[in-house]
Amino acid sequence: MADRRALITGVTGQDGSFLARLLLKKGYRVYGLVRRLSSPNISNIATILDQIELLDGDLMDQSSLNEAVKRADPSEIYNLAAQSFVGASFSQPALTGEITGLGALRLLEATRTHASSARLYQAASSEMFGHVDREPQDESTPFHPRSPYGVAKVYAYWACVNYREAYSMFVSNGILFNHESEVRGIEFVTRKISDGVARIATGRAQQIVLGNIDARRDWGYAPDYVDLMWRILQYSTPDDFVGATGESHSVREFAQEAFRVVGIEDWESHVKLDPRFNRPAEVYNLRGNPAKAERELGWKPRTRFKELVRIMVEADMARLESTKGAT
Ligand code: NAP
Ligand code: GDD
Repeated sequence: MADRRALITGVTGQDGSFLARLLLKKGYRVYGLVRRLSSPNISNIATILDQIELLDGDLMDQSSLNEAVKRADPSEIYNLAAQSFVGASFSQPALTGEITGLGALRLLEATRTHASSARLYQAASSEMFGHVDREPQDESTPFHPRSPYGVAKVYAYWACVNYREAYSMFVSNGILFNHESEVRGIEFVTRKISDGVARIATGRAQQIVLGNIDARRDWGYAPDYVDLMWRILQYSTPDDFVGATGESHSVREFAQEAFRVVGIEDWESHVKLDPRFNRPAEVYNLRGNPAKAERELGWKPRTRFKELVRIMVEADMARLESTKGAT
């Protein structure tokens, strides 16, 4: 087998940490780009630190990306780094554009200049569909982003298509719908709920405060989705694929199911609504059609909605049990 070397941006995040483990299992040499923070944020990759090589770099900084690409000399590059929280993109729109949009362009440039035969995966998003005019959404659905984050992802998506067409590079977009896990960032609604439910069930809190609980999402499990990312780069040609479960559920249903896992029936008495968590423009309903990924890549999400909720709530319960006495 030829030397398989992968560079992952965003390796400290949810998807990056699952992808690094998957690629290590497949025998890849794994390089992870990490930006300088005053307190290193490596908890998601703590158990594999001795198996991967971390490279300093930031999507805001072209020369650091050039150096990282040269050093890793990768056969595959996974661009997972982003300012990925839609809510924060409204308060930091320019920063989000710089990292999530232009950052992808900078990485494309580093790749074109220093590793033009590498295959590059771009973490595109169902948030690009935004205000949808059809359901379910697939690769041919028009984009109508509803947030600075969505706008930045559309820019990055088209930059990837452009580098594919202009320079014949192997660049593919994975248009993934929401995927969650036990290491999901705490500000995202699913983890906010699973953590909140675990706190309520263990007597640490009384309520969870949420925004629009009628919003609907197509939620899957992150380990299934990093497998899709890998499959996309093994395909015969560069192309764009939707990754989704094909089912949508409301935030309300997620909360109800999470409380059910811990045996709390009067769940509504523990949920308070606060317009502070509403967005200036909302994406009301996303549901994807993953038929192309299934047909061309043999990919199918294995973890369904109830199982996902159970995994997340039980992980938060176990975490709180192991830190008894702490808040
Ligand atoms: P995440 O947990 O928020 O991880 C984001 C990663 O990006 C972190 O490792 C973060 O590093 C890094 N990062 C942020 N700014 C950076 C910068 N300026 N330079 C270098 N690295 C930077 O996100 P995720 O859920 O794993 O998602 C992975 C990717 O898929 C993101 O691009 C996201 O937008 C996209 N996506 C996610 C979903 C989903 O449902 N999860 C769906 C569709 C698309 P620090 O640790 O230093 O902050
Ligand atoms: N975060 C959050 N907090 N969202 C809430 C809350 C709350 O208290 N209450 C209701 N919501 C609603 C949001 O308004 C949104 O409609 C939905 O819950 C999901 O919000 P998030 O979990 O923050 O995820 P997202 O769908 O906006 O974005 C995620 O998925 C995208 C793919 O569609 C992120 O992972 C993005 O990076 C990703 O691209």
